[in-house]
Amino acid sequence: MNMLKRRQFLKTTVLATAGLVAARSARAAEARVEIPIYDPIGTISPDLYGHFAEHIGGVIYDGIWVGENSKVPNLGGIRTALVEHMRRIKAPVVRWPGGCFADSYNWRDGIGPRAQRPRRPNFWIVDSWMQGAPDGPQKFEPNEFGTNEFCRFCQLIGAQPYLATNLRGNTARDFDDWVDYCNAPAGKTTLADQRAAAGDRDPFRVRFWGIGNESWGCGGNFTPEEYAMEFRRFTAWVPGFGVPLAFIGSGPNGGDLDWTRRFFARLTERDRGLLGTLYGWALHYYCGTSGKGDAVDFTVDDWYDLLEKATVMDSLIRLHWGAMGEIDRAHRVKLVVDEWGAWHHAGTEINRAFLFGQMSTMRDALIAGLTLDIFNRHADKVAMANVAQLINNLHSLFLAHEDRFVATPNFHVFEMYAAHQGGQSLRTEFSVGNIGAHGGKPASLPALAGSASLHDRRLVLTVVNTSATDAVETEVAVRGAAVKSATGRVLAASDIHAHNTFAEPQAVVTQDVAVKLSGTGLVHRFPAASITRLDLELA
Ligand code: AHR
Repeated sequence: MNMLKRRQFLKTTVLATAGLVAARSARAAEARVEIPIYDPIGTISPDLYGHFAEHIGGVIYDGIWVGENSKVPNLGGIRTALVEHMRRIKAPVVRWPGGCFADSYNWRDGIGPRAQRPRRPNFWIVDSWMQGAPDGPQKFEPNEFGTNEFCRFCQLIGAQPYLATNLRGNTARDFDDWVDYCNAPAGKTTLADQRAAAGDRDPFRVRFWGIGNESWGCGGNFTPEEYAMEFRRFTAWVPGFGVPLAFIGSGPNGGDLDWTRRFFARLTERDRGLLGTLYGWALHYYCGTSGKGDAVDFTVDDWYDLLEKATVMDSLIRLHWGAMGEIDRAHRVKLVVDEWGAWHHAGTEINRAFLFGQMSTMRDALIAGLTLDIFNRHADKVAMANVAQLINNLHSLFLAHEDRFVATPNFHVFEMYAAHQGGQSLRTEFSVGNIGAHGGKPASLPALAGSASLHDRRLVLTVVNTSATDAVETEVAVRGAAVKSATGRVLAASDIHAHNTFAEPQAVVTQDVAVKLSGTGLVHRFPAASITRLDLELA
């Protein structure tokens, strides 16, 4: 179908709002993106490119942890291939041990000699999928991978640990003790000495602490008022041992503004200063598949439907930011989107015990690109984000089983987008139509979306073309500087269902693309169903 027929070119007014209309001229390109370099939104925190690893399915056992005596190449029990790939994407932070698992976890189970650690039923054993799975560490938690192992994993990949405490089952005292175990200098406390005896003399200096997880659901079924009181109790006067502790509150499920409003109201009812105890407010949003819900077998309508659902993240950030601002007028509390991704139905797992172990295709890669671009564009509001989950699970960057390991298309997006980390987020004003109506729904998915960041005289632009069929010739205009030279890299596949497997690990990989300069800017053709990064050297 012809692109012009299928798309509704809306003659968007975004350029007018930026006062840039005068710059438009008659042109052959089908779309245009304007990037003013003089009005940055804020610094893109590297933490927007964070990860999440829960004791669920194949994430920890057979994913990250293979054990020191494994024939699988490992670094102290941690899968070497994973470490190498995590370094390539400059992974900044990893959240652990859950998820719902966190609120059933006693951190003391995971310390001391491994052979003596207790075995417990895993939180997810009650899931109907797991009841049909064979027995193993996914059902009966062996606690081989505990605090020391996790913090060593973080050290190996150069990431900060982000630990989620058990608010449902443990006490505030247990939480204090966990901070003590992680952060106190050896020789100062009994718990620090236990850590040192396990081989980690230097404190882990954990800064990020989640106070429960999904406390509106699996984390205790609290009301926002009850949770606010627990939050106050858990976070009052916790010694950080020289580490400025950053507490992250268990925020809303998707668009639940009531949870946000009522929590902020109760937290501050006696003392507005308590906002200072809250570093971040955790938002969870998964986009779910329509149609059959299969991760790999989907229609073009399913493709557009899910990409459109992914873009809901933008309005969720705006809405919760607005609700937080009703009380936190100065916006000292930032959003932490510590679970995001696509959630498909079961059926594509590489192993029966890997709960939620879905395959990731080009569709998931585009969702990753769209979402990371949204975070970049809200660099002033979002302090951290963690894709769920790292390996063998929802929206994973990797699949692994025994000695086999493969990077999914999502990994390649993270590798391309790592270039944004630490840059100044710039406005990207796209002038392009929406994708036409699909599945009986009106059009609201933009044909192109993206984000840009400035790093001295280098500008990084990432662009997602959501069309399943059509390339889009686009004029890229940088306002405030001329483009001296440019290079490009693209992730694209002729089949929207394309994905990497153990047998075909290179089915979807990035490649270099030539970029054509035009006047002081450039014109680029973004292929159908693709994610592109352009690196522009500015004069
Ligand atoms: O990521 C899987 C689960 O989804 C997490 O454990 C939970 O927090 C969320 O509901």
